[in-house]
Amino acid sequence: ATVYPFFGQHQSGITTPVQDHLHFAAFDMSERADRDDLISLLQDWSYAASRMVAGLEVTVKGAVGGSPAAPPDDTGEALGLAASGLTITFGVGPTLFEVDGTDRFGLAAKRPAGLVRLPAFLGEDLQREHSDGDLCIQACADDPQVAVHAIRNLTRIAFGRARLRWSQLGFGRTSKTTADQKTPRNLFGYKDGTANILANDEAALTRHVWVGTDDQPWLAGGSYLVARKIAMITESWDRLRLAEQDRIVGRNKGEGAPLSSPSGVENDAPNFAALAASGKPMIDRASHVRLAHPDQNNGIQLLRRGYNYVDGNDALGKLDAGLFFLSYQRRPDDFIAVQRSLSTDAMNEYLKHLGSGLWAIPPGASEGSYVGAGLF
Ligand code: HEM
Repeated sequence: ATVYPFFGQHQSGITTPVQDHLHFAAFDMSERADRDDLISLLQDWSYAASRMVAGLEVTVKGAVGGSPAAPPDDTGEALGLAASGLTITFGVGPTLFEVDGTDRFGLAAKRPAGLVRLPAFLGEDLQREHSDGDLCIQACADDPQVAVHAIRNLTRIAFGRARLRWSQLGFGRTSKTTADQKTPRNLFGYKDGTANILANDEAALTRHVWVGTDDQPWLAGGSYLVARKIAMITESWDRLRLAEQDRIVGRNKGEGAPLSSPSGVENDAPNFAALAASGKPMIDRASHVRLAHPDQNNGIQLLRRGYNYVDGNDALGKLDAGLFFLSYQRRPDDFIAVQRSLSTDAMNEYLKHLGSGLWAIPPGASEGSYVGAGLF
């Protein structure tokens, strides 16, 4: 069974080999909760999380070891299941620090300058029920029930202090973080995660993912997480000719090779200067891969860790499906720059951004301490 550590320099769930399933949740602090409630919540969450990632119940008494006269501490649906590579990653949102000049938790001075609501982008139709939150938890596991059990029990532990604002299930990873993981596919049918930051690329992680000493001291060794719920208009996409789908992505569907090397392999570097016989660039200027590539974005790289989702279908019988995009980066501005660059992306016609959130991801906790301790 795969068990990832809870305690350490960085939180798990970022460079950890991407697991197959996701349950992501955003929380708001309760109206009457104060600073002590926030501290105790983060402590209780860390304790329960440190147990669950090891395949244990949330407390020693667990699901069946307590008094028969009381509700069990643990809800029990993970009994008998392995740890399944569970990681639980906590984040703190802009609204935790200050709302309309009110500093409920005495944290205003600790707010990183970049931790503000993301600016508006083209092609958004953001909905409150898929956006923002004072806190977030990313639970990833190779067994979906293990991820759901984690969010469910952490929600229960929060009772009276914070409540669930929204949550999202994801099946099927759309990225990889180690070279030996196969590149998975998104719901457009394309390999996704080919050009990602990998866990063993220390230089790229230091440069693009981990917050350094140039930000709030409590956040050093942490990161910033962006979540975007992006609906994919799969019915329209599925009627496109294959060549047009390839043009929009900038890679071929079979191999995931850049169109500048049609006979090539997935890991060939894209050559944006290569011209076809027609004189046109082999990789279209409006293709997703070109506009998202570091060459177009001052060398910026994001660590992508998103998941496919299908939330049933709408009243017209269209699949309510898309990509729950998650990216970790050292600066929120890095995501903003890439997302702005994508404003002319040919893929946009088939996408709609429904949800958005930004959270600071504290560094990992040392044993005996808790995630977010540096804030207090
Ligand atoms: C690459 C799909 C949204 C950033 C790719 C690739 C595909 C893809 C198929 C090529 C394979 C790869 O290198 O991973 C999608 C789909 C999206 C989406 C279907 C929406 C539903 C986004 C967003 C961002 C983004 C919102 C960031 C703002 C990137 C980056 C690359 C990439 C940085 C790697 C580019 C490179 O270095 O070559 N995406 N993407 N994508 N995408 Fe997306």
